[in-house]
Amino acid sequence: MKLIIAMIQPYKLPEVKKALFDAEVFKMTVSNALGCGQQKGYTETYRGVIHRVNLLKKVRLEVAVNESFVQPTIDAIIRGARTGQIGDGKIFVLDLPQCIRIRTGEKGGGAIG
Ligand SMILES: Nc1ncnc2c1ncn2[C@@H]1O[C@H](COP(=O)(O)OP(=O)(O)OP(=O)(O)O)[C@@H](O)[C@H]1O
Ligand SMILES: [Mg+2]
Repeated sequence: MKLIIAMIQPYKLPEVKKALFDAEVFKMTVSNALGCGQQKGYTETYRGVIHRVNLLKKVRLEVAVNESFVQPTIDAIIRGARTGQIGDGKIFVLDLPQCIRIRTGEKGGGAIG
């Protein structure tokens, strides 16, 4: 199992949701976040002398998936979020040792899907 965490532009959330739906990925957690990448949060909105980092609004998307869904999920997020411009976002893929459905006590892959 893997936990896929994607930081995306907030305005791209509807397109990413659509792409995930088309890839039959229906379970997700979405949060508002602040962040910056290699432009230190500036070049997307401001050009000038940079003295410190500037945190921009981002959406953090988390999807826990079984192995067969890892690549389709990554592909869908890219399809929905990519413009080719800086700030399109980043995807982190983490090993996920366990998942438990609280209602039934199911564990592992059966609890994710
Ligand atoms: N190394 C990192 N660690 C933690 N969060 C990161 C990291 N890199 C990017 N992020 C998060 O992802 C968001 C989007 O990053 P962004 O797309 O700007 O990446 P980038 O590396 O600057 O690439 P680009 O040059 O295409 O802008 C950031 O605002 C931040 O929330
Ligand atoms: Mg950037």
